[in-house]
Amino acid sequence: MGRADFITVEDVSKSFFNQDQSEHVLSNVSLQIQKGEIVSVLGESGCGKSTLLNVIGGFEQVDHGIVTMDGQPVKGPSRRGIMLFQNYGLLPWRSVLKNVELGLEDGVTNGKQRRERALHYLELVGLLDKVNLFPHELSGGMQQRVAIARALAIQPELILMDEPFAALDTFNRYYLQDELLTIQSKEKTTIVLVTHDIDEAIYLSNRVFIMSAKPGRVKKEIAIRTPRPRDRSHGDFQHFRKMIFEEFEFSRSKTAIEYNI
Ligand SMILES: Nc1ncnc2c1ncn2[C@@H]1O[C@H](COP(=O)(O)OP(=O)(O)OP(=O)(O)O)[C@@H](O)[C@H]1O
Ligand SMILES: [Mg+2]
Repeated sequence: MGRADFITVEDVSKSFFNQDQSEHVLSNVSLQIQKGEIVSVLGESGCGKSTLLNVIGGFEQVDHGIVTMDGQPVKGPSRRGIMLFQNYGLLPWRSVLKNVELGLEDGVTNGKQRRERALHYLELVGLLDKVNLFPHELSGGMQQRVAIARALAIQPELILMDEPFAALDTFNRYYLQDELLTIQSKEKTTIVLVTHDIDEAIYLSNRVFIMSAKPGRVKKEIAIRTPRPRDRSHGDFQHFRKMIFEEFEFSRSKTAIEYNI
């Protein structure tokens, strides 16, 4: 473990058993994340990205290896790390405001503080006019924004995000990406983001981990060394886009060769 490592994943392997068959989902995955970093995980569907997030968040146990946060083994979920699930996880019987207040109901804050903080983050995601509606009265993208506000309101040290912007239109996605960067630079939150969107990974991340499938491994780590705010039409951006794209092309041709042997 390096001096500044906040999260370490060391030689982690994980299998699932489905209908008498074992599936080796993560194989000898190692990575380190420093405090305040934004890292993205890219890889094809089913390669183990959500499983890796679950393991980092303590929602899944590993078969082999260890995950640490601040040098301590992660044995289960904690309030220091919040997971933003792929399916939003909103409670249908609670209003937008009450959903965001949910994570704050731990006695640390009183009712007035909870409400103020929830409203602050709902304003950031552009939903102040919807606070009294219920989740089924919102669009999918709005539900996702409520889930983002709820995660941010807890002000965790670590946010694990599983495709948080996938359901949003381009305008809202770009807007929320910028909001996330603003909030993150203020609060120094560490973010691990799973995405299918190469541009999103380049726009947001300090580093991008590219996973290969069957079994899931981290096959490449790319540092995005270009200043923020980043310009999606800049040459640097194209450079990283090409670099990442080539990784996927390479893995496809390699698989084809392996099949031919
Ligand atoms: N709780 C579980 N029980 C059994 N098998 C699981 C479980 N969770 C995931 N798997 C299996 O592990 C593999 C990897 O799943 P995972 O959800 O990590 O993929 P992913 O990379 O996040 O895919 P996607 O991009 O489609 O979300 C899949 O084949 C899936 O069926
Ligand atoms: Mg997934």
